[in-house]
Amino acid sequence: MQDRERWSTRTAFIFAAIGSAAGLGNAWRFPYMAAQNGGGAFLIPYFIALITAGIPLIITEFAIGHKFQAGAPIAFSRIKKGWESLGWLTITASFVIITYYSVIMAWVTDYLWYSLKAAWANAPKDFFFGKVLQISSGPGELGGFSIPVIIGLILAWGAIYWCIRNGVRSVGKVVKWTVPLPVIMLGILVIRALTLPGAIDGVNFYLNPDFSKLLEPKVWASAYGQVFFTLSLATGVMIAYASYLPKKSDITNNAFITVFANCGISFLAGFAVFGTMGYMAFTKGALVSEVAGNGGIGLAFWTYPEAISLLPFGSVIFSLVFFIMLFTLGIDSAFSLIESIVAGLVDKWGWNKKKVVRLTCLVGFIISLIYATKGGLYWLDIVDKYINNFGMVAIGLFEVIAIGWLYKSSKLRSYFNPISEIKLGRWYDVMIAVITPIVLGGILIWNIVQEIIDAINGKFYGGYPLWAIIVGGWLMLAVVIIISVILGKIKSQNNLGRKAN
Ligand code: PHE
Repeated sequence: MQDRERWSTRTAFIFAAIGSAAGLGNAWRFPYMAAQNGGGAFLIPYFIALITAGIPLIITEFAIGHKFQAGAPIAFSRIKKGWESLGWLTITASFVIITYYSVIMAWVTDYLWYSLKAAWANAPKDFFFGKVLQISSGPGELGGFSIPVIIGLILAWGAIYWCIRNGVRSVGKVVKWTVPLPVIMLGILVIRALTLPGAIDGVNFYLNPDFSKLLEPKVWASAYGQVFFTLSLATGVMIAYASYLPKKSDITNNAFITVFANCGISFLAGFAVFGTMGYMAFTKGALVSEVAGNGGIGLAFWTYPEAISLLPFGSVIFSLVFFIMLFTLGIDSAFSLIESIVAGLVDKWGWNKKKVVRLTCLVGFIISLIYATKGGLYWLDIVDKYINNFGMVAIGLFEVIAIGWLYKSSKLRSYFNPISEIKLGRWYDVMIAVITPIVLGGILIWNIVQEIIDAINGKFYGGYPLWAIIVGGWLMLAVVIIISVILGKIKSQNNLGRKAN
């Protein structure tokens, strides 16, 4: 076995962790989540979710990766014999996420080009669905490929591969650019947005608290889902990244820096997006809630371009800035998922890392083609919902059970406290062993009960037919579980694995 790869500096690691965390989830998912789930009041469940799950888990994942010097599967097999499959769950979940995340990156790539000539003209929504996605009538009709999406996808995967081709060495170099650049661009967009007439109405819409929403369990489930996704938790990414840290490395302070930087980016993005929406409402004489539409994916690909096209000057520049920001935000999240998968495979079987990177990107590209079909958007929507609301929360729950109950959180704490600048007290143990399992268990049960109630009422997510929910939701989760269990049972070939068994 060769020596393990290492980050060249502490900053390289922190940038890579922030790069993974800050992604497409910050720039449109967070602002929209906030607006839909009670505006400013959403910040309350969001912060509670950060404190009760996000922060304890990111510290735990950093500590696990650093202590066991391996990606998630081998790390969990060392935590508890027979628990290797939990690590593989994080890896297969990463694989599911990268296959659709790369397709959103493909749209962003296309929009870099379209921005140059404001190709959407006066109808950004029709342009997105008609020209770019060439959307079919429903999940039952794949309808062949959308050529623009395929071209974007080839470029996006090419870029992902290029960034990660030499492992953490090339990643360390790339994140020097892809972390500061989007922050600068975001700064430009925030200043532009807040100096437009009507911006204040947009900001009000974003932050005005509607406390009645706090009584809805759905809002809490969304907050926990958002915190998992935004911090790249339960995907093995943070475990793999921390495993490349040298022996004497800070754990807790690095975790806090990552969380604050990531959440700051989300919070700022809200001002850019909603300030601009306020302006659009102002020019159209409409309400912000009317122009913001139903948000989600649309927010980045047609609502925002439309708002930008109404600017008095420089709309080409500002839309270019926006899509370069999205691309640089997203690319380091995308390749972090590949790194997690590759670390899992290489640590167990000792294969040649470069070959595994190539193969993972190739297989990832081929599977992502499903979402490049004309019906791809429907499948992307279903898979995203089920892997996040059920997959990630369940994996997070198992992680805290493994550490809190089987390994013992106090033992992990006595490992990371001496090497860390910030020392954690017993609250960490209480959190990992009691509070986090209770809240995650509660959210998971609530999600399952809600799913059953909806099914009884014949109401399925997004109004999709039952068979599509079964295939894209439940079958997808079943395949993830089966593959993970099998991978966890196979005997490993190299030292790193054997030590564990
Ligand atoms: N955190 C990324 C975002 O907010 C997405 C991501 C999830 C990346 C899981 C890696 C792992 O866009």
